[in-house]
Parts: sequence; structure tokens; C-alpha cells
Amino acid sequence: MFQHLQPAPADPILGLMARFREDPRPDRIDLGVGVFRDADGRTPIMRAVRSAEQLRFAEEDSKVYQGMAGDPAFNVAIGELALGPLAATLADRVGVVQTPGGTAALRVAADLIHTARPGARIWLADPSWDNHAAVVRAAGLQVERYPYLDPSRTGLRAEAMLAALRAVPAGDAVLLQASCHNPSGVDIPAAVWAEVAETAVRGGFLPIIDMAYQGLGDGLDEDAAGLRMLAARVPELLLALSCSKNFGLYRERTGALAVLTETGPQTRATLSVLLQGVRNAYSMPPAHGAALVARILTRPALRLDWADELAGMRAHIGHMRDGLAEQLAARGLDLAYLRHQRGMFSFLNVPVAAIARLREEQGIYLLDSGRINLAGLSDVHLDRVASALQPLLAV
Ligand code: LMR
Repeated sequence: MFQHLQPAPADPILGLMARFREDPRPDRIDLGVGVFRDADGRTPIMRAVRSAEQLRFAEEDSKVYQGMAGDPAFNVAIGELALGPLAATLADRVGVVQTPGGTAALRVAADLIHTARPGARIWLADPSWDNHAAVVRAAGLQVERYPYLDPSRTGLRAEAMLAALRAVPAGDAVLLQASCHNPSGVDIPAAVWAEVAETAVRGGFLPIIDMAYQGLGDGLDEDAAGLRMLAARVPELLLALSCSKNFGLYRERTGALAVLTETGPQTRATLSVLLQGVRNAYSMPPAHGAALVARILTRPALRLDWADELAGMRAHIGHMRDGLAEQLAARGLDLAYLRHQRGMFSFLNVPVAAIARLREEQGIYLLDSGRINLAGLSDVHLDRVASALQPLLAV
């Protein structure tokens, strides 16, 4: 069976994470995989998550199966967090199912599209998260690209993007990131979101919004503003959600897929097809992470504490963006764009060979694409990282 198989290439993000873990140098710095780190390089468990775990330990009275859609309380709460007041306005047209992380949400979304319309293509930003294309191709969808970044990789090509979206045929799907664009940190301004919504309504493509960083850009509501603008106007939309970063639940694989269609009966029919796909793939999602998020979002004291800690994480990312730009400015380099971008990631325009040297000689890990995770940085590292980057950015 397996004799002809050759080793698959390492995943560009998780492969680098594994290399970092094997690196014995105690002073190595991981600015690769998108996780939040404190000054000691640890990714702490959020306070509200700890409290919710204690509550769950005391309250849980059975390990019996949940349904294919997961935890109903989680589904309501996460839908409200994402959609805000629209969750009530659109209630009959929206259905939410819990998934094993945002990746599985994207995968079952792609499976659903493939079932509904086997020839549909999916349009991804150029560039997009490294795993987007592979996930949707695995569901049998063909990938196309729309322009997103300007040649400096620091700003949006809004006009080129909108022109490409206007040419997307009705019945194709377009994936957009809600905020904190991975890998570039370049987000879509409100005026451009309005045009995207208009284009989707006129052109008839299906928007898929990937929201993996709600609360890590400008705020919980601010980061969802583009999504909400679209959801209020378009007839149909899919929304993939992740709790990995904003609840720090990475390994608990906690996410959701929300489905918006034109009518209540259509949403219920679509969900039934979606859940059939879920049953065929993994039967039902794991319970733990969603049980914690449901408790955090529905108990006011826990919710306040979570939102407060999240605001601190957001402020830390902003502080690191300012700090790195300042340190580089002090070394004669203008990377002011770092201050204006949002979320964990930005691009540094450093050649791939230099990124390898940075890793091997200095123990500083970035993705080969030049993506840096600013949430992995801390004050104690700024000087060393800026000094190591200076000669590479100056060429
Ligand atoms: C990242 O982009 O680094 C994260 O979303 C982790 C992952 O799964 O790729």
C-alpha cells in the first residue's frame, strides 16, 4: 500500500515550529508560528480560561456524546460575539456549528460548497494564510487568486482587488479575512468593505469570511465591522471562526462555522447537508474548548476578565509594532508601516537566504516568506532582533 509514498514536504508554519523546538539554543526566538508569547517566551493560559476550567471540572456531570453541531450554548455565544446585534436581526437566517478549530470550519465550508456546486472555484487573496489553498483544494475546489498586496508587500491594492472581484463569476466563492490579515497585517478599510459587499450582491459570488483574530486588531467590535457590513447586505455568507488566538485555546481546537442563507428553511436545509459532511469526517467536535468559551462568554465576571486580558494582548502587539519600528528607525530604517498594520503579522522584505542565516546563526525564526509574528516578540528581545534585522533590511 504505502511503498511508493515519498515524504511530504514540511508544512511551512508547523514545520518551522518543530525545528524551533528541536533547536537547543536557550536564547532562540520564535517569531514564526502565530502564537502570543510573554517575555519568557511562554504562551500563558488566559485567566478566564483557567477559571472556566475549574468551573467545568466542578460542573461537568457526563462525558456522553454531544451532537454533530457541538455545544449549543457555545454556538449561540460565539455567533453573537462575531455578529453583534446582527445575530438577533438575522437569527432565523443564521446557523452556527462548532468545529475542531478554524481550519476544520474552513474545510467543512469547502466541502459544503463542493457538494452544493461541484465546479465552484474559490478565490483567495494573493497572498493568504499558507494553509488556505491546501485546505480548500483537499475538498476538491479549484483555487484562483485575487490581487491584495502592493509590490512593497506593505499596503492594499484596493482598486486591483475590487476589479478582480467584479470579474468573479456568480456561483464562485471568495475568501476574505475579517481583520489582522495573515500573513501581511494589511486590512481592508471600511470604504473598501462597502464596495466588496456591493460587488458580492451585484456579482453573485459567495463571501467566506475567515475571522481568526477578533479582538487582536482594534477591538472586538471593530475587528468584526467588515464582516458585519457584508452580513447585513449579502444574501448568503459563510463565516469561519477560531478561538485559538483570542482565547488562547490553540491545542483545544475550538472554532465554528456560521452559515447565512436567504431564508430560515434554506439555512436549516444547508445545515443538515453540512452536518452530514461533519458526520462523514469527524462525527462531532471535541467538547472541552467550546465548554470553556461558552462559560466565559455567558458569565459576566469571566467575560469582563477575558476581554480585559485580551485588550492587554492587543496593546502588547501594538507596543511591539511601535517598538520594532522605533528600534529600526534608530538604525536608519523606515518601517513605519509596522505601526499602521494590525494583528500578529507583518512582512519584512528580507530574502529567503538571509532568513535561513538569521535562523542558523542568530537563532531568530521567521517564516521563509518574511512573515514576522509580532505577538511573539517582547521588550527584552527588541534590541537583539532589530540589530540582527538591520543589515538584512538595509540591502
Ligand atoms: C499561523 O498562521 O501561524 C497560525 O495560524 C498557526 C497555523 O496553524 O498555521
